[in-house]
Amino acid sequence: MTTESPEAQVSEAQIAVHWREEEYVHPTEAFIAQANAADPAIFERFSEANFPDCFTEYADLLSWDEKWHTVLDTSNAPFWKWFVGGRLNASYNCVDRHLATSANKAALIWVPEPESVDPVAITYRDLYHRVNEFAALLRDFCGLKAGDRVTLHMPMVPELPVAMLACARLGVIHSQVFGGFSGNACGTRIADSGSRILITIDGYYRSGDLIDHKVKADEALEEARKQGQEADKVLVFRRHPGQYASATPMTEGRDFFVDEIIGKYRGAIVAPESMPAEAPLFLMYTSGTTGRPKGAQHSTGGYLAYVAGTSKYYQDIHPDDTYWCMADIGWITGHSYIVYGPLALGTTTVIFEGTPTYPDAGRPWRIAERLGVNIFHTSPTSIRMLRKVGPDEPAKYNYHFKHMTTVGEPIEPEVWRWYHEYVGKGEAVIVDTWWQTETGGFLGSSLPALKPMKPGSCGPAVIGIYPAIYDENGGQVPDGKAGNICIRNPWPGIMETVWGQPERFIDVYYRKYNKNPDSKDWHDWPYFAGDGAVRAPDGYYRILGRVDDVINVAGHRLGTKELESAALTVPEIAEAAAVPVIDDIRGRAVEMYVSLKPGYVASDEMAGKVTHAIEVEIGKIARPKNVWIVPDMPKTRSGKIMRRVIAAVSNFTDVGDVTTLANPEVVEGIRHHVQSVKVSKGETPRKLTEAEYEELKKFGEA
Ligand code: WTA
Repeated sequence: MTTESPEAQVSEAQIAVHWREEEYVHPTEAFIAQANAADPAIFERFSEANFPDCFTEYADLLSWDEKWHTVLDTSNAPFWKWFVGGRLNASYNCVDRHLATSANKAALIWVPEPESVDPVAITYRDLYHRVNEFAALLRDFCGLKAGDRVTLHMPMVPELPVAMLACARLGVIHSQVFGGFSGNACGTRIADSGSRILITIDGYYRSGDLIDHKVKADEALEEARKQGQEADKVLVFRRHPGQYASATPMTEGRDFFVDEIIGKYRGAIVAPESMPAEAPLFLMYTSGTTGRPKGAQHSTGGYLAYVAGTSKYYQDIHPDDTYWCMADIGWITGHSYIVYGPLALGTTTVIFEGTPTYPDAGRPWRIAERLGVNIFHTSPTSIRMLRKVGPDEPAKYNYHFKHMTTVGEPIEPEVWRWYHEYVGKGEAVIVDTWWQTETGGFLGSSLPALKPMKPGSCGPAVIGIYPAIYDENGGQVPDGKAGNICIRNPWPGIMETVWGQPERFIDVYYRKYNKNPDSKDWHDWPYFAGDGAVRAPDGYYRILGRVDDVINVAGHRLGTKELESAALTVPEIAEAAAVPVIDDIRGRAVEMYVSLKPGYVASDEMAGKVTHAIEVEIGKIARPKNVWIVPDMPKTRSGKIMRRVIAAVSNFTDVGDVTTLANPEVVEGIRHHVQSVKVSKGETPRKLTEAEYEELKKFGEA
């Protein structure tokens, strides 16, 4: 679409681009010959007839202190319990048990952002000692015991997995908050989880700067206190031990430098706590329809089994591979597929502190070459970015991937092909993996040696997962038509509940398609994923995006309610609405529409206040692309803001029928203003796909 004038409206017919079926792309013989899953009998083993026992194949990848007596307990549906009666420890499974064969192998290779500094290899033996010592500190210095919660607010440094595994060793539930989130966002999560201890760091490197991170700890504790939760200790790692990188003072009796107190625990050994399979391993907060974040509670046995199994078959991880997932450990991808899955399998996993395009777009490929990375895992946003700024960079470096992953957002076929041809040099298979914070591990993907790839489609359901696409009334949607994707059966990686909000767990994920609230039969409880999807006749799924009030920015889920509440902390703002705009690099970006209280006038300064409030309440990742100050929001007669209408304005699509609004006259003024400014800034969108168009049309209707 080209927009010569802001007046140009584009009709539905012009925008609709019909979904073209892409050709299959096949894995190489060399890949197939070495793959963990190369025998099609695996599909039979994981067929519905063998559910739920099929998943013992995953559980058998772990070392259990006590074997389970019941594979799946549905007696408290939909709060499923997996491997009941079994006991194990996640830290033992990820560390101790590899010592016999792999003590000197690198468990982690940490790549600091400054390129002049060498990568640091941490062997399984080193990791064992560091985890034990830190566990001793948590137990003896902090008084933590099994079942307590601890909040971590850490960047991509090895101290993060060490701290996670130390918690797991004690049966302490860790809740890692993405390092880029603000102090306030961290504080909300401290309060919700009831953590008394915060683990943080003074600073970390980002695009060349050593960023002050400790300042956020003070904000976090302040916010947690406001919400009724006192934290009594803050453990502060130092990015350069002995040198404090933050301008923030240390609070006497509350803040402690880990490097000053760890010495006391040198050589300490802490016996791994034998935990019931269903004991929570961690919480991972995610956004939803309401403002309060949801703490997805993941189990020890089911979760670890699921990530180990999918890492083995879908990531094709062998113990002697060098595996690099460029996601952040602060998101579920990092928990499952940087830390727990790869380490459970005893492989070498790479942790990179920096951003992929700093100092230039060759950095990831230099890292891959130097470390001999052969499995690579990243997001469409990173791929789009690397393609934009350095399309010819991969060819300059002598690395070879056998396998690559994409995760977090739909990938455009064109971007997929660049990834395959240039990054993968035509040699690597690609798995597009569709899943969620709540699901612990993959739901839709192709088994790399057994199913061909189809660009833009995540592939069929993964083994042991039986999806269905339903319409609003629970009717099955035929192939080729869009609907709500659901998973009919439970699986070991599914979260156990929303921390402290069991009703919300049922309401959000099960209420919509539940057939009988008293049923103990899993068949009556399809899991509602909150994504739109289309199934092709070959059984491959194409994910269309969220159907709820969540905007997926660069693979990060932002709730419209959270964004709007943040804007409303600015005293002059009367009303706020967040909408997605299609963005060529980040998939979606956020635009805010606000109206002012009487007596205030619109200004750049006012817009700046809204942006600042969002950075303070959520973090820089949520920074809006534009803040539009409008005289009045388009509203229904019942007073609901019509987000669909303003989303259409922001994306230059058809605003549709506005005659039923309470104030239809405001729409044209808003459209004219917003689109003129956008045109003058060169912000007109490209031609939208049918899926994008559908998403915008439904936006805010949830
Ligand atoms: C989206 C990230 C298309 C989807 C693991 C989902 C995807 C949300 C894909 C979950 C993919 C994730 N193709 N869309 N391969 N992977 N999504 O919780 O909308 O951060 O519901 O988990 O991201 O995001 P979350």
